[in-house]
Order: sequence, then structure tokens, then C-alpha cells
Amino acid sequence: MNQYVIRGGHPLFGEITVSGAKNAAVAIIPAALLVDGVCRIENVPQISDVTLFFSILEELGAKVRVLNRHAVEIDCRNIRSTTPSYELARRIRASYYLLGALLGRFGKATVAMPGGCNFGVRPIDQHVKGFRLMGADVIEGGLIQAEARDGRLHGANIYMDVVSVGATMNVMMAAVLAEGTTTIDNAAKEPHIVDLANFLNSMGADIKGAGTDTIKIRGVEKLTGGTYGIIPDQIEAGTYMAAVAATGGQVLIKNVIPKHMECISSKLQEMGVEIFEQDDTLLVRRSKPLHRTNVKTLPYPGFPTDMQPQITVALALAEGTSIVTEGVWDNRFKYVGELKRLGAKVQVDGKVAVVEGVDRFEGAPIQACDLRAGAALVIAGLAANGETHLGNIQYIERGYEDMVGKLRAVGADIQIVDVPEDEKVEPKIG
Ligand code: EPU
Repeated sequence: MNQYVIRGGHPLFGEITVSGAKNAAVAIIPAALLVDGVCRIENVPQISDVTLFFSILEELGAKVRVLNRHAVEIDCRNIRSTTPSYELARRIRASYYLLGALLGRFGKATVAMPGGCNFGVRPIDQHVKGFRLMGADVIEGGLIQAEARDGRLHGANIYMDVVSVGATMNVMMAAVLAEGTTTIDNAAKEPHIVDLANFLNSMGADIKGAGTDTIKIRGVEKLTGGTYGIIPDQIEAGTYMAAVAATGGQVLIKNVIPKHMECISSKLQEMGVEIFEQDDTLLVRRSKPLHRTNVKTLPYPGFPTDMQPQITVALALAEGTSIVTEGVWDNRFKYVGELKRLGAKVQVDGKVAVVEGVDRFEGAPIQACDLRAGAALVIAGLAANGETHLGNIQYIERGYEDMVGKLRAVGADIQIVDVPEDEKVEPKIG
């Protein structure tokens, strides 16, 4: 199952329900290691990164009971190891959260870091700086070994040199059971930061200020368990909104938090897409040609880097020339080569892409190179005349629940086709 065959050129009509947020789930599930009790987690997206985390936790001694498609119970009362499987941990970028969670609860952790990277250097120096300031010795290499010098971490004042989602969440996890109070300044403010804090607080932690620049975490003795529902996925919702922008049509996007979508909605509106908000839904309509605009990705509440490839695809079909500037990652335009195979006119110079809109794309064989690039190429295929074969869809399945089913429900002609085993490519990190 690793190719999508898309017959594009048709507008989308109907309804799509958004799943739980991937980047919240891949933090909250390892954060269950901090809890000396049973966590029931709801609105869990059914994606391969989540399944991989369940396996990692089970190997450490957790009991993971899948209750239904989107709910799971995780019992971390009898954890027997602080060294997650090297093979499993190296396959998922978010395995760095195992460091903060295990170090916070047990005072030590040895975790494989994912090798290589797919859109530039992805350092974890700010995570390590935070752990060290809280009293841990950290040895970095293919394996990161961290150990609290006197068995338990201590609260500290930590100023993040860069705004980092991962470092903010990892330090938050490490701090919830530390002795004393930790302050994180220049913290990231993404919705999943707030979601992790809400999850931990619902289990007994004392975290204040998540969603602002300064987060204060007062260490508590123990987290005890409870029930928590993950927020809807801002990027999944945005991806389907960009799909409607690119193909035309009208789709009701259900299960969203409209406030989280403003940074994306306002850009699409500038492009001429109509968006009507009601409760937890957004009605997205594109009936006229798209206008050009400029986009720069920034930490939240700026335009998200994880939506950059998808909006670039829509801009490549807009009237006029747009400038897209990637403000977070060094090398996130690798997909542009594939997009050009469909007829897009995009010139990339470092972190800037000049996108000259064309009237239409023509289908072609193309390959996904990471999760969001893969989603963007699906959108391109949906907008293209004729047939597009998209390979390496494992990347997409890491982070989008049932993308094919959801798109088919709004009239897309997309199907999954098997390709021979020896042509399959191992997914990398994301
Ligand atoms: N950075 C540092 N030092 C650090 C950490 C980060 O210099 O210690 C730099 C990075 O090199 C980058 C910037 O800070 O230039 C932001 O990185 P951040 O730490 O925020 O990214 P991340 O936590 O590794 C998460 C998401 C990414 C998303 C980014 C930015 C997860 C698992 N991943 O990565 O999501 O692009 O935040 O919003 O939450 C995706 O979902 O496709 C994806 C890649």
C-alpha cells in the first residue's frame, strides 16, 4: 500500500471531520509515562506515529489498551525500563519527548535520536540546555543519556534561545515532577503546547501560562491519572482548506477550533477563498480564481510552517506571482521539484520561493519526501488534470488519519494501489 492514484481536476463538495492533533498526540502519549496511574486519552488520531508510540510504551512496561478507534487507556504504574527500543525510537522524531518524560519521572533516560533529517538541521540543544539547568548530566550522541545528578530534577529558570515547540514541551514534561518551580521564558505558544499543559494539569500537574511567552511549572510529588481529550488537528484542517482552495468547491470542515485556524483562514481569505465560521465548523468555498499573496512562516500565532507546502500548491494555481518565505526550517522546499513535474512554476532560492501562478497542472508520477510535502502533493494531484501517481505515501500515513477516505467522501477520485515490496521506501523522520 504505498502509492496514491489520483484522477484530478474536479472540485470538492461535502463534509470532512478533522481528527485529533498529531503534534499534540505525539507529546501527550509519551507524557503518560509521567503518570503513576491510568490515563484515558480520547480523540487520539489513528496514524502510524501514534501506533509506534504505543509499541514504544509497551516495551517499557506500560499497559496500552485501545478502547475504540480514537480512545486508549495507558497505565504506566509498572514501568521497568528507562531505555526505549533503539529501533523504534529512531524512527520517530518526537521520540525526544521520551527523554523529558522518563527523566522527569525516574531521574534518568537513554533515548535514540532520529538520524538524518528531511528539512534541514534539527538540533535539540535547547531541550538539553533545559535538562542541564534542572540538574541533569546529559551525554549526547546517537543515544542521548540523561541522568538527574541527585536522583530528581530541580526547578530552574530557563530562557529559550529560539522559540521551539519540542524544547518547550520537553522541558515542561521534565519539570512537572521536579523539586521546586521551573520558568520557561521565550516559550512556544502553539495550540499543542496548551494541550499538553492541559493534559498534565488534568493528571495533577501545576502548570500556568501555557500559550504565552512565559510558562511556570510548580513541581508536584505525583501525577495520578484521569481522562483527557486531544484537541482537533489545526494542520489537518488547514490541509483540507488548502485542498478546497486549489480545486474549488465547497466543504464543511467539522471538529475544528476556529481560533486556531485564524492564521490560515486569513491567508486563504486574502486569496479569495470564502470561509464561514459556525461553532466548531468552518465552511470553505472557492468559486472564483485565486489571487496571489505573500506568505511567511513563523511560530504560532504566525502562519505555520507545517502549512507552507500546502499553501504553496494553492498559490501555484493563483493569478499573479507570490512570494513564500520559510521562517522556521532551513530546507523545506524540497517538494518543489516534484510540484514542477505537474507544471508548477516555482523558483526557490534558499528559504524563499517565487511562485508564478499557472492556469492548471497536468498529472504525472511524483514522490512524497516528507509528511506535509506529501499532503501538498496530494492537493496538487487533486487539482491536476489527468492521473497523478504519488509514491512514498508512508510519510502521509504517519500524520493524516484516513486521508484517502476523507477525500473520497468529498468527491475526490483517489485510491491506494499496491506497489511491489522491493519498490517500497522506508519512511524517515518528521
Ligand atoms: N531549534 C533549535 N534548537 C532546538 C530546537 C529547535 O535551534 O533545541 C530550531 C529548529 O532548528 C527550528 C526551530 O527551532 O529552526 C523550530 O523547531 P521546533 O523545535 O519548534 O520544532 P520541533 O519541535 O522539532 C515541531 C513539529 C514540526 C513543526 C515544528 C514547528 C512535532 C513532532 N513536530 O517540531 O512538525 O514543523 O514543531 O512548528 O511536534 C510536522 O508535523 O510535519 C512537523 C515537522
